[in-house]
Amino acid sequence: TREAKLDLVKKHIKPYPDFPSKGILFRDICPILKDPAALTAVIDLFEEHVRQMQPQVELIVGLDARGFLFGPLLAQRLGVGFVLIRKKGKLPGPTVSVAYTLEYGQAEVEMQEDAVAPGQKVLLIDDLLATGGTLWAACELLKKNKAEVLGCMVVIELKDLHGSERVESTVFSLVQY
Ligand code: PRP
Ligand code: ADE
Repeated sequence: TREAKLDLVKKHIKPYPDFPSKGILFRDICPILKDPAALTAVIDLFEEHVRQMQPQVELIVGLDARGFLFGPLLAQRLGVGFVLIRKKGKLPGPTVSVAYTLEYGQAEVEMQEDAVAPGQKVLLIDDLLATGGTLWAACELLKKNKAEVLGCMVVIELKDLHGSERVESTVFSLVQY
């Protein structure tokens, strides 16, 4: 069942106080990847959500780096493509970039100019929503490339940081803290 799958996912998220800096409670998803049943549960729950979306998702766009762990698995299940949004300086050819702030620092994300077609219906995926800076920047990038963002999906949402208010698009999360 859905509840059993969610329980399994929750059991495989490990909290680490004061990482990477004092005052941050880091939610580690590595145990999920180490357990095939937990990883399957994540992808099952994501798939269930995406399949009932209207209009239909045409492309999954994942965020550097932990969005890459879940995005391609989901894209393959759905039979759609996967595109990477990377930290600045990693992608070849003409790119578009957007700068942003996050829970513990500053960064800039980048995407290849030809990665999405104008009007293409995309879904953003990452492991975790904190302040929303990353997903906000990703939405800006996709806007610049004229894609249509249908929504965002994360394993974990840190509710206290109100990240979903910063992201213009709807955010679907499996586990909330
Ligand atoms: C983490 C996490 C999200 C982002 C969320 O990534 O994986 O991408 O922070 O924070 P925000 O909502 O405040 O933007 P991080 O930048 O640490 O990089 P990594 O995935 O490469 O470890
Ligand atoms: N990315 C941003 N904030 C995070 C947190 N608290 N745990 C794990 N990843 C994060």
